[in-house]
Amino acid sequence: MRRRAQRNAMISRARRPGVYLAVVAMVLTMVAAPAAASPASADAAHGWAGHDHRAGHGKRAPLRRLVPKGFRIGSAVAGGGHHADQDYPPPFPNDRRYRHVLAKEFNSVTPENQLKWEFVHPERHTYDFGPADAIVRSARRDHQAVRGHVLMWHSQNPAWLEEGDFTPRELRRILREHIFTVVGRYRGRIHQWEVANEIFTDGDDPELRTDQNIWLRELGPGIIADAFRWAHQADPNAKLFLNDYAIEGVNPKSTAYYELAQELLADGVPIHGIGVQGHLDFQYGFDHSMQDNLQRFDDLGLATAVTEVDVRFFLPEDGVPTDEQLAQQADWYRWMLEACLNVDGCRSFTVWGFPDRYSWVPHFFEGQGAATIMWDDFTPKPAYHALQATLADARKAHRRH
Ligand code: XIL
Repeated sequence: MRRRAQRNAMISRARRPGVYLAVVAMVLTMVAAPAAASPASADAAHGWAGHDHRAGHGKRAPLRRLVPKGFRIGSAVAGGGHHADQDYPPPFPNDRRYRHVLAKEFNSVTPENQLKWEFVHPERHTYDFGPADAIVRSARRDHQAVRGHVLMWHSQNPAWLEEGDFTPRELRRILREHIFTVVGRYRGRIHQWEVANEIFTDGDDPELRTDQNIWLRELGPGIIADAFRWAHQADPNAKLFLNDYAIEGVNPKSTAYYELAQELLADGVPIHGIGVQGHLDFQYGFDHSMQDNLQRFDDLGLATAVTEVDVRFFLPEDGVPTDEQLAQQADWYRWMLEACLNVDGCRSFTVWGFPDRYSWVPHFFEGQGAATIMWDDFTPKPAYHALQATLADARKAHRRH
């Protein structure tokens, strides 16, 4: 114990004079070449090695090697969406380092955009399966499960669909055909599908998004059950999920889902789970009822999953998160993972991409960022270590049982 304390003191004494220079150096390298920040400068600048008592113990195994039996730790696979407007090529096919880390750390993947309507079904009679196929192929090689995202949503739909002036009859056929084509293609290879994404509005009195969601607007709420039934026919072994943000804790929106899930189950609709996205933001606080919330869905007999985790906050002016921010971020990642691990049927926890430079956050939330678990050079942030330690603990506890 004493020896470790002394060593840590020596490390921090040795580092202190270098911290300022390291910050400057890192900011400069990040500006000049976002991928080039060296691991040493990132660690020193952010002090995580000094803060995390576990870091002194040398390297632990990658996340996927630490999971309790049957547990999936996943990541979104970068490509499409906001990536298409950046000055880098699509990460998954082009960034070898990225692919290496993805395979090493995660035993589950979710295509971030490559199975969304605008991407996979760009014209009425054209599907573009190339990128999703590549992800599913490499996932099989790397022994990763694949989560399918998404079949019914109000966002990222192609213009031909949104502006097509179709009759309800035509729209029904279009949705049915899409589900049979996409789910059918990956039958047996995509084990969970998000069938309906973000179908409730926010606030104290959530309602189905009947204005924004073309399917709900044109076909009525009954289409939700139909979508689940079609997906089930297309792949009877796939687990079918509802999915949304801001439903981590017990709140009016998650209760709307709870009631919907009960209705669907009572009607015999093949629904198997609920996904809470986990896009958290410091300004809204952490809702510690998360475990209770997951548990109430579990009690209905549904699987639960945490599907799109990131934790965002406003960056200081120099763009470098403070140690306090990083520590809080690590806590929130850990709390979400613990909530999931403590619920029997929560067996899947997916982070919404890495490293920070590939995250969607800065592009959608002005002034916010640094929301993922890795620095731009793929070295671990405190949040990574928090997940690592939490998984290791859960595995030990699991073994004792
Ligand atoms: C985001 C992607 O990360 C971006 O690349 C894209 O430009 C927009 O969508 N909820 C979801 C995800 O269900 O599909 C969203 O992903 C993030 C919010």
